Amino acid sequence: MFLITPLKKLLSSIFLIFWDVSLNIGNLLTPKRRAGFVIPKGHPGFEGKWPEFIPPQDGDSRCSCPALNAMANHGILPRDGKNISFKELNKKVRETYNFGPSFCYFVPNFAADMLKRSYSKGTFNLKDLDLHNGIEHDASLTRQDVYFQPDQGKPDIPLVKELLASATGKDKDGNVLLTSEDLAKVSGKRRAAARDSNPEFTLATEHKMFGSSNSSTLLTIFGGRVKDLEPILLEERIPDGWEPRIRERLGLTILAFNKTVLGVETRTKEDTPASVAPTTNPESNAGGVAT
Ligand code: HEM
Repeated sequence: MFLITPLKKLLSSIFLIFWDVSLNIGNLLTPKRRAGFVIPKGHPGFEGKWPEFIPPQDGDSRCSCPALNAMANHGILPRDGKNISFKELNKKVRETYNFGPSFCYFVPNFAADMLKRSYSKGTFNLKDLDLHNGIEHDASLTRQDVYFQPDQGKPDIPLVKELLASATGKDKDGNVLLTSEDLAKVSGKRRAAARDSNPEFTLATEHKMFGSSNSSTLLTIFGGRVKDLEPILLEERIPDGWEPRIRERLGLTILAFNKTVLGVETRTKEDTPASVAPTTNPESNAGGVAT
């Protein structure tokens, strides 16, 4: 009886690995989507046309994830950020960002488990995802720690600006790019600064990995392009003409994504002197442009 849940979890992990590996093989064997046509016809964002951006209104629910907030700000998820089903989250994230179906199944399932809700029947409000030390954690790159910024639903503008200003890369078209080394440097500084200043600081290995996973989306899905990341991270707005930089036919798999994540996490050294000063007065910036 007691073995049913662990056994079910083990079987679903094995299934997920096989599924993800098959998607990887599928990606190797099929041509990439054509640039300019990553979003399929009939879906928001087809040909770079995103539904109208409306910043959150009073009473709307927003969270610590810029990508999900942006979806709500464009009406791809409910604009009020409420009563979203985990299944809807799976489908919409896949269509919007071209993450692979294995990732889009895994993360909403993880979130449902974290919130002790049913994946197949349950719903959530975006704010529910801010459960501290669930997925949300200290030393994030776009939010102050919850100790300093209890409302995690808005970006911390100075932190985001510092992140974007750290970009050292450039592509052949002259676009300024964030690199894996840049992210590792900023993360290392952020972790040291948060550890120094936050009396309630915690960052378990699992949360370091979540941190590097979240920030690795900036390199993969957003291709590191600072010009695109400015509206995404500062306003939680998807710019006109944008499309996911992942063009693999079956989307970004967990396996492929983890190569980037491990690259960021293994380069992150926390011993860099703290220079990202925390904002002790959240009112000074937390309003940002997303209110
Ligand atoms: C699939 C469902 C998803 C869930 C449940 C989720 C949840 C979260 C949560 C709770 C955080 C806060 C972590 C922290 O404290 O730093 C976060 C941050 C973040 N997520 Fe998501 N997310 C999802 C999908 C995505 C996708 C598809 C992208 C990119 C296309 C993305 C990009 C980010 C970024 C850039 C951050 C900010 C990291 C930071 O501030 O350090 N997320 N996400």
